[in-house]
Amino acid sequence: MRFSSTALIASLAAASVDARSVNPCDKRATPTVYLAGDSTTAKTGGLLMGWGEYLPPLLNGITVVNKAVPGRSARSYTNEGRFTELANLVTAGDIVVIEFGHNDGGSPRSASDNGRSDCPGTGSEVCVSGKTGEKVYTFNHYVETAARAIIAKGASVIFSSQTPNNLWEGGSYGGYGTPVRFVEYASLAAKNLAGTGKASFVDHYQAVANMYLKLGNAKTNSLYPSDHTHTSPEGADLVAKAFAQAVKLAWNGTTPLKGYLKAGNPTVF
Ligand SMILES: *[C@@H]1O[C@H](CO)[C@@H](O)[C@H](O)[C@H]1NC(C)=O
Repeated sequence: MRFSSTALIASLAAASVDARSVNPCDKRATPTVYLAGDSTTAKTGGLLMGWGEYLPPLLNGITVVNKAVPGRSARSYTNEGRFTELANLVTAGDIVVIEFGHNDGGSPRSASDNGRSDCPGTGSEVCVSGKTGEKVYTFNHYVETAARAIIAKGASVIFSSQTPNNLWEGGSYGGYGTPVRFVEYASLAAKNLAGTGKASFVDHYQAVANMYLKLGNAKTNSLYPSDHTHTSPEGADLVAKAFAQAVKLAWNGTTPLKGYLKAGNPTVF
C-alpha cells in the first residue's frame, strides 16, 4: 500500500495531536451534548419541529447532536439499541440529556402492547408483554440503566422531564395534561443516581408550563398547528428557550450545561 505525502503529513499531524492528549480521562476540547428523546425533541418536519433543533444557538463551546427519534419511549429507545449506541459514543466530559414520557404510557400487559409502554411503577417491577411475551421494565429501570452506562464512560446525564401538551387546549389554562407521572419519574432517576455525582434534573415540563401561562391562550394555541403534542418550529424554539432558562436558574439543581449557556439568552417565563 502506498501513501501520498499529503496523507502522511495528515497522519503525522493527527499523531502529534494524540500525543498531547494521551490521558483518556482528559475532557475533549469541545464536549458534545447528545439528546435522547422522542418527536417533541427530534428533527421532524413539515409544520412541526422538535425543540432539540433549537438548542444549538443557545449554547457556546459545546456541540449538540440530536439523537431523538419520533415515536420512541424509554423502552423502545432501549430495545432498539439506541442507548447502547450513545454509551458507545460518549467520552469524558460529554453530556447526555434524556427526555421521554410522551410515548411511555399505556399497558404493556395488553394483547395490543405497542412496544413502547413501560411497566407501571418506578422500581424493579417487571411486566410481561401481552403481545410478545417480552419482559418489560419500568421507566426508571430503562433510563437509569442507560445513565449508568453513560456515566461509566465519564459523561454526565441530565434527566429532563417531558414537555407538557398544549396547556391552553379548549381555551382555559390547565384544561389538559396535569403533570404526568413521568415528570416525577425523571426527577426520581436523578435522585437515584445522585451518588455518581454525574446525574442531574431539569423540570422542562414546569418551565414550558410556566411559559405557556405567560404566553396566554391565543399565542400558545398558535404553536400547535396539528395536534396537542407537537409544536411548530416557533413553538420548538420557545420550548428550547424554556429549557435553557430552567438550566440557567438551576431550580432543580445545577446541571453541567449551565456553563455552556450563552449570556444573552431570552427570558421566556
Ligand atoms: C423544579 O423547580 C421548580 C422551581 O422551583 C418547581 O416549580 C418544580 O416543581 C420543580 N420540579 C420538581 C419535579 O420538583
